[in-house]
Amino acid sequence: MRTIRSVATLAARSRALHREGVVIGMVPTMGALHAGHRSLIRRARLSCDAVVVSLFVNPRQFGRGEDFSRYPKRFRSDAALCHQEGVDVLFAPSLASMYPPGFQTSVEVRTLSQRWEGHVRPRHFEGVATVLTKLLSLARPHLAFFGQKDFQQAAIVRQLVDDLNLGVHVVVSPTVREPDGLALSSRNGYLTPAQRRAAPVLYAALRTGRAAVLAGIRSAARIRRVMLDTISAQPLVRVEYLAVCDLRTLEPLNHVTDRALLLGAIRLGHTRLIDNLLVKSPQRRVRQ
Ligand code: PAJ
Repeated sequence: MRTIRSVATLAARSRALHREGVVIGMVPTMGALHAGHRSLIRRARLSCDAVVVSLFVNPRQFGRGEDFSRYPKRFRSDAALCHQEGVDVLFAPSLASMYPPGFQTSVEVRTLSQRWEGHVRPRHFEGVATVLTKLLSLARPHLAFFGQKDFQQAAIVRQLVDDLNLGVHVVVSPTVREPDGLALSSRNGYLTPAQRRAAPVLYAALRTGRAAVLAGIRSAARIRRVMLDTISAQPLVRVEYLAVCDLRTLEPLNHVTDRALLLGAIRLGHTRLIDNLLVKSPQRRVRQ
């Protein structure tokens, strides 16, 4: 495995791989790697000749008062995991290499960025879109791998790649969870033991929402109500949003007629957790 620290070296490596006709897969991360990241790396390893993992805590996607300065940094164990998984290139650039003095460009995917995470974290997705435009233009992967856990982010990446003709095939992988249902996240480590015990309630709420849809409930308001009722049983948890939305536009639905996305964010103390679940409403029986 080769560790690359400068953008120029990554661009040169990518040019060489393209000349050799190698299929490149990229997994962008902010490090503190866990089994969720590992699943993306394994998927990339299966379908690509060369796997590039980027490890960069991107300051532009953190708002004021967010956790940029305390975001976990574990370069040695991250590098060991990448090595173990057969990663070819670990791209771990310095801040100055990614954003040299005078940097002034920003990429904004407008409509998809407005709701949910974008509403709670203004300019977050602008930071994500900007760094991904750089990472994808530098590594020029054929495929790039993202997790369903960040559903809105994955939708924005698809739009970005399409709008800017980046020529990357975006692959979205299922959410990896703890045995009690909590989605793995680099931020789970912030939770106190009591908060950690309460945290799986978000996934539990999404599942009660799905059960309601499967039981034939179509009203989004009623589906939201059952999800909220599940969460309100946990006094440590504050709901930021719980939504029933269209899985392409991410706009809220009034009624679930076919497929829908259940989307949620909660706060436990200072820690925010997000999760989502896709649901398919049962087909109406066709009378013979
Ligand atoms: P990060 O939070 O490190 O996540 C990197 C990738 O891992 C994302 O695509 C995310 O959706 C995926 N991931 C995280 N938890 C997961 C889980 N439990 N199961 C499956 N996949 C999971 O997302 C970012 O970094 C950044 O915004 C980034 C895209 C790197 C841009 O800076």
